[in-house]
Amino acid sequence: MRREHWRGIIEAYRHLLPIDPQTPVITLFEGNTPLVASRTVGSRIKRDVWFKVEGANPTGSFKDRGMTVAVSRAMQASSRGVICASTGNTAASASAYAARAGLPCVVIVPAGGVAAGKLVQTLAHGATVVAVDGTFDQAGALTRKAAVQFDLTSVNSINPDRIHGQQTVAWEICDTMGEAPDLVALPVGNAGNITALWQGFQAYHGRDVIHRLPRLIGMQAAGAAPLVEGRVIPEPRTLASAIRIGNPASWQKAVDAAKASGGVFHAVDDSEILEAQRLLAEEEGVFAEPASAAGLAGVMRLWAMNRLPPGETVVVVLTGHGLKDADAWSARLPLPARVPPTSEAVAAAIEQAGHSERGR
Ligand SMILES: Cc1ncc(COP(=O)(O)O)c(C=O)c1O
Repeated sequence: MRREHWRGIIEAYRHLLPIDPQTPVITLFEGNTPLVASRTVGSRIKRDVWFKVEGANPTGSFKDRGMTVAVSRAMQASSRGVICASTGNTAASASAYAARAGLPCVVIVPAGGVAAGKLVQTLAHGATVVAVDGTFDQAGALTRKAAVQFDLTSVNSINPDRIHGQQTVAWEICDTMGEAPDLVALPVGNAGNITALWQGFQAYHGRDVIHRLPRLIGMQAAGAAPLVEGRVIPEPRTLASAIRIGNPASWQKAVDAAKASGGVFHAVDDSEILEAQRLLAEEEGVFAEPASAAGLAGVMRLWAMNRLPPGETVVVVLTGHGLKDADAWSARLPLPARVPPTSEAVAAAIEQAGHSERGR
């Protein structure tokens, strides 16, 4: 029997998106990502915790949801090509969808500020990459200028089509759970995703698909927390390079979303981010990149501060795959033991790691 297969977020949510019958759908079948119940973290903090694994999207991050809409609409408008500034994931996604559409793609990144895996993806998809000696925020301003100068469509999250597509993460969460959760935690960088999530939950609420709205908790890295500190951070610092942003483009919309939902912004230290990443990988079986783990780090912190009401359902959005930023792990991991090719040597190495042989 042939099974109906998933055909991407545009086909799934066409009636709620700015798509008409003439729009050429550029898709890699993004979306429909796993919503996985926590194995250990939830029972540890005595809350019903779920992970929305956005690293399972085609290019390994949530950006694909907005990109399929933005690139499809760019094609419909006979765009000459697309351009974005990026801390890595937008670049990887834009270049993949542009390749799929047969459109040129230009990416402007902060030099040295993008994880190797993301840069490899972007180059592999054939994008023109310009690395500027500056911050992401400077790359953003230069991108806006270059978009006009070269008549390219900007596919950063200031493009409303990106936001439209990214709402689908909220819709999928509700469609799977049958209702909105109490709380959604997610990392915040340029603040497009939190803006989109709120818009998505509100849209479902307005259509009576859900009957309550969740609180949105936006997590920033302590050295790059403009929304927590209420000021631009000229030189943001954190090992979570995806959210190393000091002046978010959707600042006001994000502040409005957090406030209207009854949520807040929090800052978490890099050490808390790494610990959350370790928990996810070792105990939950989910490999998320550091920025992604910031959402869980924040939930753990709120719980430790007694600010997580009991009995709540918490969804943590894990925005990107851990393989994208392997360096963030490899620095912390011991290299595997190298032994001669004998079963004695292999057994000794296994025993040394704490395993015992059968019958012993
Ligand atoms: C993995 C990851 N998480 C979170 C974010 C932050 O998303 P936003 O910029 O929409 O706030 C980004 C942005 O690049 C990202 O790549």
